Amino acid sequence: MPTMPPTTSPASLKNADLLTLASLDAAQIEELFITAAATKRDIAPYRRALDGKTIILLFEKPSLRTRVTFEVGPGKMGAKTIFFDHSKERVGARESVKDYGRNLERWVDCIVARVFSQDVLEELAANCAVPVINALSDSFHPCQALADYFTLAEKLGAKQGVKAGLARLRGFRLAYIGDGNNVCASLMHGAAKLGVQFTVICPKGYQPEPAVIEEARAMAGASGGTITISHDPGAIKGAQAVYTDTWVSMGDEAEKVKRMSAFAKFRVDEKLMDLATNGASGGPAPFFMHCLPAHRGAEVTDAVIDSPSSIVYDQAENRMHVQNALLLHMLGGV
Ligand code: CP
Repeated sequence: MPTMPPTTSPASLKNADLLTLASLDAAQIEELFITAAATKRDIAPYRRALDGKTIILLFEKPSLRTRVTFEVGPGKMGAKTIFFDHSKERVGARESVKDYGRNLERWVDCIVARVFSQDVLEELAANCAVPVINALSDSFHPCQALADYFTLAEKLGAKQGVKAGLARLRGFRLAYIGDGNNVCASLMHGAAKLGVQFTVICPKGYQPEPAVIEEARAMAGASGGTITISHDPGAIKGAQAVYTDTWVSMGDEAEKVKRMSAFAKFRVDEKLMDLATNGASGGPAPFFMHCLPAHRGAEVTDAVIDSPSSIVYDQAENRMHVQNALLLHMLGGV
């Protein structure tokens, strides 16, 4: 009789921060995905789960998906949200980040922050007792990557469920083509935790931070995941999912002309998707993924983003479900 590997309960996420995906282990991700699937199936049992909780949203940068999902989701579970527009004055400008944290912890139960600098998140987290969630920084976008892997796990698990889908992510070939940005960095962390074969395909000079590549490679040892960097669009061959993102992230606007030219050969079009499909020797068409907002005609063509294999709106919807799960675990709602 084969022996089952010992199962250990995931460490509790109560009061934890989420500043990068490196802080979660595979068991915690699985637990989050199981809760996310349950809330997605039926939110009714969770309607009062966050009664009396208040969540503040501090946003230095624009947003559609993150803001709406972090307002609608908690509202469905009884929590109140307060939105602070920091687009004109960065967090830490009026008073120190330390004092910001030490005040906010007296009134709110969770801080969700979209900021330029990852250091601001680190400083907030170090100076308040309530959970801090990274809702995007220049360096990482962990909520996005969680939603993306949840979406893939849903697709791969189909009727068997998200747990079976997670098992199928081990060895899954995900290619990220474009800028080695914050989303790419968090996807790399997730790949390392979940055993994904992750290839970053980018122009020279636009690869992810070497320290993050190193960190992800070190973490991947335990899961069997791999992290490969290539500058050849042909490396897309055989990918089971193709992911891209904007070539000009928030804060990079001054480099727009230079970037549009550097990335021109990295556009995801039907030819590139065919190359991925053909390399997979007759398997199903690869999924197309994008965190949105998309720049149609730049990093992706209409034909690809509107194709049947595109799962971009599922990714967007799932932002809410995985964030609901995070909040439930962090604030003691489950
Ligand atoms: N993907 C994402 O974070 O979308 P928003 O910038 O609209 O929040």
